[in-house]
Amino acid sequence: MDASQRIAALEDVPADSTHLFRVTNGTGEQQEAILVASGAEEDGGCGSDDRDDRRLDGDDETPVSCWLNYCQHLTHIKIDKGSGAPMRDGELVCANHGAYFDAGSGQCTHGPCEGAYLSDLEVDVRDGNVYLTDDDYEFVGDGPLDDDGDMTSTSNVKI
Ligand code: FES
Repeated sequence: MDASQRIAALEDVPADSTHLFRVTNGTGEQQEAILVASGAEEDGGCGSDDRDDRRLDGDDETPVSCWLNYCQHLTHIKIDKGSGAPMRDGELVCANHGAYFDAGSGQCTHGPCEGAYLSDLEVDVRDGNVYLTDDDYEFVGDGPLDDDGDMTSTSNVKI
């Protein structure tokens, strides 16, 4: 496990919100990503290699999921606006128009993009730490991007 790709201690991933961090992709562009407790209790891998299986089988045995921090309704809108995304009953909530996303599968279960999936990143848990293991991304650091591309971040929804 590449120590430079350590995102956070597993115990620091909140159960009722999100852990925000930055990644860079192959072009050097930085993006925001979020870790979220998926509700499972076993340590193990997580990410796109098994997401399709989870869709089919409902297999959700990993303790954390990792998603790019952008809604699937309007993809420039951040779900975690810098202080943690709201969650309700194990689902991430986009405060802009009230889309709900299953924390384990990333699927929108209610709202204007119902049926769409958040973009996932592969992570793995080893020895109580969460590591980014996605070949397409590298860990940059904790917290949001310096610039704020989410110009419409004012909530329209009471949650
Ligand atoms: S931007 Fe997320 S629900 Fe509309």
